[in-house]
Parts: sequence; C-alpha cells; structure tokens
Amino acid sequence: MSALPVESVNTHAKTAHRLGPVDAIPVGEARTFAVTGIQVAVFRLRDGTLRATQAQCPHAGGPLADGQIDLMKVVCPLHARAFAFADGRCAEGDQIRIYPARDEAGEIVVEL
Ligand code: FES
Repeated sequence: MSALPVESVNTHAKTAHRLGPVDAIPVGEARTFAVTGIQVAVFRLRDGTLRATQAQCPHAGGPLADGQIDLMKVVCPLHARAFAFADGRCAEGDQIRIYPARDEAGEIVVEL
C-alpha cells in the first residue's frame, strides 16, 4: 500500500499532522500513512470518529489497517489479536501505540 502525503504543523511536545480529507477513508475502514517515517494506521469508525495506531501488529507485523474494527477495537488480520483503541492492549499481553486523532473540519489530524 502506498503511503499518502502529509502536512505537518509543530505545536508543543507533539506535532499535529494533517493527513488529508477524512473522506479518503471510507466509514468502517482504515488507511496507512507514513508520518515523518512512522507508519500510522488511521481508522474511521462507524460513529464517524477517527482512531490512529501504529500500523504494524507487535505480534508478527500484521497490517492493522486491514483488520476488522468496531467502535472499541481492531482485530489483527493475521492471528486475530484484538487491540483496544482505548489503551492499545490485547488479551495476549501485547500493546500497540495509540495516537490522538481527530476530524478537523473534514481533515484528518493525528498527533505524534
Ligand atoms: S501478527 Fe497480529 S496477531 Fe499475529
């Protein structure tokens, strides 16, 4: 999957990255972005909110943007570990990074 271009604005400790239009991600799906060299999966949940996580599963590198999602979690497509969007944890003990993400006037903004 090719990474989409991003535009960055430096704030305080974190940097807000504008990743383009929210509509680039269909509702209920996700896309992977390269943000200053870091692969980030951005999910557009069915309630319209956005979540962002590290793109690769810590178990064996599964592409989390290709996983099944609901409002609470993403399920890795390779071995079905379910990571909570709230804290990045799964029942098996692995944890993924969660990044603040929001829809700002129709644009995806992720902080990292
Ligand atoms: S690579 Fe994700 S659960 Fe194995």
